[in-house]
Amino acid sequence: MVFHESFLLGAATAAHQVEGNNIHSDLWVMENVPHSTYKEPSLDAVDHYNRYREDIRLMKEAGLNAYRFTIEWARVEPEEGQFEAKEIDHYREKLLYCHEMGITPIVTLHHFSSPFWLTKDGGWENEATVERFANYVAYVIKALGEQIPYICTINEANMGVQITKLIERMKKGAGQGSQVQVGLNTDIQENMMRYYQELGEAFGTDPLNIHEFVSPKTPKGNEIILAAHQRAREVIKAIRPEIKVGITLSLHDNQALPGGEEHVEKAYQEDFHDFLPALQEDDFIGLQNYSRQIFDENGMKPLEETARKTKMGYEFYPEAIGNVVRYVSNYWSKEIMVTENGISTANDEERKEYIERALIGIHDCIKAGIPVSGYMHWSLLDNFEWQLGYSQTFGLIAVDRTTQKRLPKESLYFLGSYKKDVAHEH
Ligand code: BGC
Repeated sequence: MVFHESFLLGAATAAHQVEGNNIHSDLWVMENVPHSTYKEPSLDAVDHYNRYREDIRLMKEAGLNAYRFTIEWARVEPEEGQFEAKEIDHYREKLLYCHEMGITPIVTLHHFSSPFWLTKDGGWENEATVERFANYVAYVIKALGEQIPYICTINEANMGVQITKLIERMKKGAGQGSQVQVGLNTDIQENMMRYYQELGEAFGTDPLNIHEFVSPKTPKGNEIILAAHQRAREVIKAIRPEIKVGITLSLHDNQALPGGEEHVEKAYQEDFHDFLPALQEDDFIGLQNYSRQIFDENGMKPLEETARKTKMGYEFYPEAIGNVVRYVSNYWSKEIMVTENGISTANDEERKEYIERALIGIHDCIKAGIPVSGYMHWSLLDNFEWQLGYSQTFGLIAVDRTTQKRLPKESLYFLGSYKKDVAHEH
């Protein structure tokens, strides 16, 4: 089993998780207040900002041909309307280096972190965010559009919906577990009041008015996210119509036991179908998946004690991504790209097994005629898993953060071997 020459096989990162010193972002402030719910601050992260050449070269050597990464809004526009030419130069060099290495860049314009000034002023519940995002997007595309073949406007546009649901379940005293595919620290009740008080002081606003991206959303907040996506697409297409534009969605593989069918339908409705009308003009859809959810007549079933789990506590279930692609393809006939899929584990053999089983699923989808154009493994590097800090290890490359030395894992070369002429029985 080898993928076609044109298939994009690569890895993904997000700026805040790898670059380091994203000091103008909202998350930087949230991480650094004394009673932060973040287990640790991001600090230098894995210094990808300065070491991206080495990281991209490692991808190239392994045989990969695509890299999904973020252009960080808070760096490019640290104050509203003040654009940093030197940051644009930085990202231009990075894009050019990808091309030089034969790596197709897939650029994300927003991956969870936002400029501090945006969040200070109502963030993702303020309608003004739509035009503010469009201004930043226009600036980036005018300067760098020529180098960018693919754009993911907003990462996991449905994250707010999923977090809102998680909080509802927690209020009812039910499962924290695996139902949100992102590193949240749910073990924080005690410090909560102090944390919010400190945030209020740091942002100079009522803590109830701090709406960062990864937080519960009102229906209006969800509309704002989709409007921001649509405006961004218009702006990109007006400047560079040839760029392929899409959004990314976090989707679980929802499975029904007898009696659970309606729950599955509801889960897909809220996480996927509700978003579809706003995506009709997009060129592709980015899918991100880490595991499955099983429903019976009572709703989501808690994970069995004996289930095989990843370090994040999710069920180890690499077949989920193929199932999600197949589900989506029933309602989406254009290009599909897997923009994230991966596993946090200390055991690299387990990562290899995950990759192999996930890729078998993707290969089967392609054989069935589904237009899957790429697979970006999460993640290129062990990195900052949001509120969980550096405790998680999703990377194909480990990093010794005391020296920032890169330690490629076997799984990096294993993933790359699917582009090479290596026999994989299937
Ligand atoms: C996010 C990543 C995150 C990954 C693993 C996705 O929800 O886009 O930023 O690190 O899941 O939890």
